[in-house]
Amino acid sequence: MDTLSRKIKTFVLRSGRMTESQKEKYHHLKEKWVIPFEKKLLDIDSCFLKKQDLVIEIGFGMAKATSLIAQENPTTNYLGIEVHKAGVAKLLSEIEMHSLQNVRILEHDALEVLEYMIPDNSVSAFHVFFPDPWPKKKHHKRRFMLRPNTDLLAKKLKKDACIYMATDWEDYAYHALEELTATEGLKNKYEDIKNTLLGFAPKQDWRPETGFEKKGKNANRRIFDLVFVKS
Ligand SMILES: C[S@@+](CC[C@H](N)C(=O)[O-])C[C@H]1O[C@@H](n2cnc3c(N)ncnc32)[C@H](O)[C@@H]1O
Repeated sequence: MDTLSRKIKTFVLRSGRMTESQKEKYHHLKEKWVIPFEKKLLDIDSCFLKKQDLVIEIGFGMAKATSLIAQENPTTNYLGIEVHKAGVAKLLSEIEMHSLQNVRILEHDALEVLEYMIPDNSVSAFHVFFPDPWPKKKHHKRRFMLRPNTDLLAKKLKKDACIYMATDWEDYAYHALEELTATEGLKNKYEDIKNTLLGFAPKQDWRPETGFEKKGKNANRRIFDLVFVKS
């Protein structure tokens, strides 16, 4: 499929009700930290204060992990991509509260952002934490971690850089494992390592628990981590 003619959306826009003062704050902060979507290649370094490695998080939700990871790693730049306005508003308030100089936001469909704005071989890691599981079989095609989306991610990664995905949805975990394994240029970091279950990664200590991860654990779902490296 031609990635430019991609029509299937991996999200449904959720209503993110905000009070008048939240809306006002959102519009004020958006000017400072949100990069407008354009069908034009982005000069990444000019968007951040410092030229440093770029990590892109896709679908950061209410931004709990995003904010903690960015606070812990000031020498890495983070671009969060999300379509959910309430999530964007939350990350904006985290940026202000913790004076995060290394975080920027794009409020748009991540597939279009990658396609048009992100240069090839420029990204040091993708974080995709608990993407929408689309559990019904007829909706599986809307899952994010499928080809050709994974081909696009691979194209944007630098050599030796990685895609880190976590999910609490078992059949999505196996589906993504299959799709990532079949993606040209990617290698499963944990495929040959003993004591990992069928190619899944151990939970990485630095990855904080996310909002959706907590829900999954409360429902007694197991968490699956996957790490694929561009070879
Ligand atoms: C299930 S939530 C997980 C949120 C968060 N990562 C967590 O673990 O709590 C998935 C998020 O991905 C976002 N999303 C899905 N597809 C997207 C896309 N193509 N571009 C941007 N955001 C997307 C949705 O809006 C939603 O907020």
